[in-house]
Amino acid sequence: MPYRIFGRPLLGLIDSERAHGLGLSSLAKLEKSSLGRNLLSSFYQSPELPLDVFGLSFNHPLGIAAGFDKKAQALSAWPSLGFSWMEYGGVTRFPQDGNPKPRMFRANKENALINRMGFNNPGALAIKENLIDRKSKGLWPNNPVAANIGRSKKVTNDEAPEDYSSTLDILWDYSDLFVLNVSSPNTPGLRELQEADHLTSVLNSCNSIRDKKGNHKPLLLKFSPDMSDEDLISSVDIAVKSKIDGFVATNTTISRYVPKNSQSRSAFAQSGGLSGRPLRKRSLEVVNLLYEHTESKVPIVGVGGIDSVDSAWNMIISGSSLIQLYSALVFNGPSVVSKIIKGLKIKVKENNFSNIQEAVGSKHT
Ligand SMILES: Cc1cc2nc3c(=O)[nH]c(=O)nc-3n(C[C@H](O)[C@H](O)[C@H](O)COP(=O)(O)O)c2cc1C
Repeated sequence: MPYRIFGRPLLGLIDSERAHGLGLSSLAKLEKSSLGRNLLSSFYQSPELPLDVFGLSFNHPLGIAAGFDKKAQALSAWPSLGFSWMEYGGVTRFPQDGNPKPRMFRANKENALINRMGFNNPGALAIKENLIDRKSKGLWPNNPVAANIGRSKKVTNDEAPEDYSSTLDILWDYSDLFVLNVSSPNTPGLRELQEADHLTSVLNSCNSIRDKKGNHKPLLLKFSPDMSDEDLISSVDIAVKSKIDGFVATNTTISRYVPKNSQSRSAFAQSGGLSGRPLRKRSLEVVNLLYEHTESKVPIVGVGGIDSVDSAWNMIISGSSLIQLYSALVFNGPSVVSKIIKGLKIKVKENNFSNIQEAVGSKHT
């Protein structure tokens, strides 16, 4: 199994950011040749469960969440690992190192990660150069690609609209859809951008870039699970008024409980955002809330604690048209992707739906 050879140190037994980086660069090497991609596909290919969302065709609903491939360095590897779409980034307008290391921790018994990366990335212009190079070499995947955009640390929230929209402008031709991340807990003040005035300004500024470009590409807004339901609803209303195309629910949480296991307790004591299984309940609640409040009119990407067929199915019947995972790749390895899609296919049949699209939000009917 390739996972045992390179993927496990990379994704399964990852205990540090270094292991993550090592694994990603192995994936980046493999994706460069059709032999490497075919090798990965031979182990991890997923069945099809097609659907159309945002005017784009997806082989199935499950994509790799933001933050794993921050620099888009392994873009063509993700379909070979079974994902139907990928979100690169977070990308900021300016290059930045992120927070001091260590900044990524595992809580093994809880199937959870804590991170305070702080948008470490080479900046929008450098990423664009890398993507131009990739396109010219024919290494652009045949699947929908999303870009995750964050705020540069050095700018203030008043300067954020320009910061986001410049990144959008720079990356416009290098992504099929864009996720505006106003919900990372690891950039001081960032989450305040979910509030009315800031949010309106960020969305207006991004809309003006979109209008200038002429071709409509979907803009999505990614929420924090730590907002109250009331605040979520007011942000949703503002975003809908500003013609948002979709929501991503949710980012990582700063909330914690006290795990029984001592290794997990010390990981949970780290500051940063918690992801993985403990996030599942709140992410699901947020998806339900958004679906009901928007009367199912705005497509939702569900993310947070998906690591099994049941958790993926619950996200879909609660109202997610698309789903993503990150932490489960670390704890379960890439085979989790095809396992989930095989299971979803069975669920669609068992529930007498003719396709996965019919299952979206079906819990609410
Ligand atoms: C190390 C790490 C880095 C992340 N970086 C980003 C990021 O740059 N932008 C973003 O929107 N979300 C980021 N996320 C959040 C994930 O995209 C996802 O919303 C979250 O991990 C919940 O999914 P999961 O429970 O499947 O991991 C990051 C998560 C982790 C663990």
